[in-house]
Formats: sequence, C-alpha cells, structure tokens
Amino acid sequence: MEKIIVNGGYKLNGTVRVNGAKNSAVALLPASILANSTVTIEGLPSISDVDTLQSILEDIGAKVTKGADAALAIDPAEIESIPLPNGKVKKLRASYYFMGAMLGKFNKAAIGLPGGCFLGPRPIDQHIKGFEALGAQVRNEKGALYLEAEQLVGARIYLDVVSVGATINIMLAAVKAKGQTIIENAAKEPEIIDVATLLTNMGAKIKGAGTDIIRIDGVAELHGCSHTIIPDRIEAGTYAIAAAAQGEEVTIDNVIPEHLESLLAKLREMGVEIEQKDEQITVRPKKKLSAVNIKTLVHPGFPTDLQQPFTALLTKTKGTSIVTDTIYQARFKHIDELRRMNAAIKVEGNSAFVTGPVQLEGAHVKATDLRAGAALIIAGLIAKGRTEITGIEHIERGYENMTEKLSQLGASIRKEKVAEADMKRLDVK
Ligand code: EPU
Repeated sequence: MEKIIVNGGYKLNGTVRVNGAKNSAVALLPASILANSTVTIEGLPSISDVDTLQSILEDIGAKVTKGADAALAIDPAEIESIPLPNGKVKKLRASYYFMGAMLGKFNKAAIGLPGGCFLGPRPIDQHIKGFEALGAQVRNEKGALYLEAEQLVGARIYLDVVSVGATINIMLAAVKAKGQTIIENAAKEPEIIDVATLLTNMGAKIKGAGTDIIRIDGVAELHGCSHTIIPDRIEAGTYAIAAAAQGEEVTIDNVIPEHLESLLAKLREMGVEIEQKDEQITVRPKKKLSAVNIKTLVHPGFPTDLQQPFTALLTKTKGTSIVTDTIYQARFKHIDELRRMNAAIKVEGNSAFVTGPVQLEGAHVKATDLRAGAALIIAGLIAKGRTEITGIEHIERGYENMTEKLSQLGASIRKEKVAEADMKRLDVK
C-alpha cells in the first residue's frame, strides 16, 4: 500500500510530455481482437488499466508482445470466445468494450458487468439497445451479460443519451455485421475518431466518426495493422491546470491543442496566458486569477474528466465560481476532501460553488476515484504544508508516472509505502 506525499508551495517550471490517451487505449486494445492477424498499437500509456486489459486479452488466448515505442502487438489468431468473469473485468469500466468486440467477432459474448470509478449511476442501457438493434439477444444474469446473435445485421440506432462507451461499443459490434449501421446522436470525442481510425486501418468501412452520425458498412474480414494512439487530452489538461495553479512557465508537449479548446478558453478567461503551437502548449498564469463558471458537456464542451482537477484550481481564484457537471451529476467526491484542506465549497444538486481565494492547507486526504486523485494532487501542490494522499491506486489507473513528471517540473512530491503503524491513522487496509 502506497501513499503520495506532497509538500506544497513549490513553483512548477519546465516541460512535461503527455502519453497516449487512456480512454483510447482502453478501447483500442479490445478492438484489436476483431482482426484476423496481428495488430500493433504504439504509444500506449503505462498505466494499470492497460495492464489489466492486456491480462484479459491473454486470458482469452491472445498472444501479446511488448515492443519499442510503448507498443503492444496483439496476435488474435488463437482467441476464443470464453466467458469473462467478474474479477479483472470489475477493475475498470472499459472492460465493457469486450462485449462489442467479442460479439462482433464471434456473435457471442459472456462478460461480467464493468466496474470503474464511482461517479454516480453509470447505466449501459444504450450499449444494450445498440446490440439488440443489431440482432443480439441480451440476457442479464447474476451480474453478467450474455449476448448472442445468429448473424449481426446492420441497423439504424438512435442513442437516447450521447455516450462515448455506447458509440464505440456499437461500432465494434457493427464493423463485421451484414449491411449498413447508422449511429445517430453519436458521441464526438477524439477517442471515437481514434478507434474508428484503427478499425479503418484494419479494413473496416466507417464514415462520420467525430460527427453525430456515424455510418458503418459491414465487412467480412478485418486484418492486422499498426496504429499510433492519440495523445491524452485529459492528462494534458490536468498538467495545464496544475501549471495554472502553481506554475510559472510550463510547456506541455505531445498535445493536440484543438482537443483542449474548452479548457484553454476557460484558463484564458481566468487570466492565464496560453501559447499554442502545433503539438505544444505553454501555460503562464498571472499572479491574480479570477473566478469562472464551468459546465461540463459532451465534446467539444468542457470535459467532465477535467471538472475535478479544475475545481482544485478554482480555490485560488478571486470570487465565486460555479461548477456544474451535467454528465455525472454526483462527480463531487473530491469536494469533501478539498474541504478538509480548507476549501470553501458548497454543493447544491449538480453544482458546486467554489469561493476564493483561500489558502489550502496540507491534510490527509483520500482519492476516491481517478480524477479526484488528480484534483487532490493539484490541491497538494498549492497547499501550505504537507498533504498525504491515499487511494493512489485510482490515480495509477490513468496517469503514467505522475509523481515523477511533477517532480521534474519542480514539485516536492513522492510516493511512499504506508508503514504498518500508520495504517490506522490513514484508514487504509
Ligand atoms: N449513459 C447512459 N446510458 C448508457 C451510457 C451512458 O445513461 O448506456 C450516461 C452516463 O450515465 C453518463 C453519460 O451518459 O451520464 C455519459 O456517459 P458515457 O457513456 O459517455 O461515459 P463512458 O463511456 O462510461 C467515458 C470515459 C469517462 C468519461 C465519459 C464522459 C472511458 C473508459 N471512460 O465513459 O472517463 O468521463 O466517457 O466523457 O472512456 C475518466 O477517464 O476518468 C472517465 C471517467
């Protein structure tokens, strides 16, 4: 059991490089099984979600080989459609992409319901609606889904809720279905384009990814290929927020700035100077930052995954900021922890009212989910004194070497084993 210790107040300077996108990686790996020969994915982040998916791929018979450039080569020749029980599947949300991928490949799948961060209710009714429209029978029995079809047949599917997961899962199931599938009201996140690009390189026929209507013409076979993953816009955004909170001049490298427009606009609005280049952004905050309101929306709106880190930054701004999460209305578990650090935040419904500036104080806090963890690290960077963060396994699901990267920028941050004698005080087992 480890914890992160941050001694706050040190200024950040220098360059930080962003890794491949977690939320692409976790879809690309299951997608690879649809091919009939080896798929190589380059630029994968070294995070525990990728390790878990690699292990699931191996469980179903894939031969997975690590290569240079953070690549994994997935040889699907001996994959079987065996049931995927709870255990590993419950470790992350994205294990649900094996539903679409297995169904697309074998016309059947049996898989435990997914886990992932607790952000309030996270139904998968739209995924099921899509699978059923393609002709699958779907049974939910004792916490597992059983999907089966004689032959998947393309269909017109309107998503009642704009969902990243349902859009990708339906694409995975539809690429080898007979005839044309049209997904209406599809999600438009960059990760969807990345998955569509991989599938297209494998021989799939997909048009419109990145718009709200995606057309897929089913093909009989998909083949191996190589694919380089897009940079992680949420990791990049997290460092941009950290830089706005505690930086002097920080350059974030390996970024597609267009993927971060909503965040960059808000940072500028609060008084942060942002310089954009093709693959880099440089962040220079002014001494005094002003309060701004944010409302999370589907892409290209402000991403819910940056709402929690952004809230930590808002404790430094002058005035009251309103943070409204329209995607996950209960994504506020970090707020209790920020309050332990002296933040003045009130929650009403799906809005948080953050009043500042306040000087955060170091405390013992718990990361309850991935982005809450990132928020607490940022709060620790700003705070006076020492912050101890437990629950760091959540952070390691999605950020590669976060403590090392921040140390290189000048933060005083490290990981440490929790001593036996300290377990009770920190309430860890
Ligand atoms: N929803 C439904 N029914 C469905 C699917 C979704 O009602 O069948 C609702 C959800 O409850 C939510 C909204 O639709 O209110 C959006 O959910 P979506 O399906 O888009 O989310 P997801 O695919 O489960 C991905 C990311 C999340 C990110 C969301 C929104 C992955 C593995 N996860 O989740 O990332 O917050 O999209 O952008 O791609 C994170 O990285 O920390 C994270 C939680």
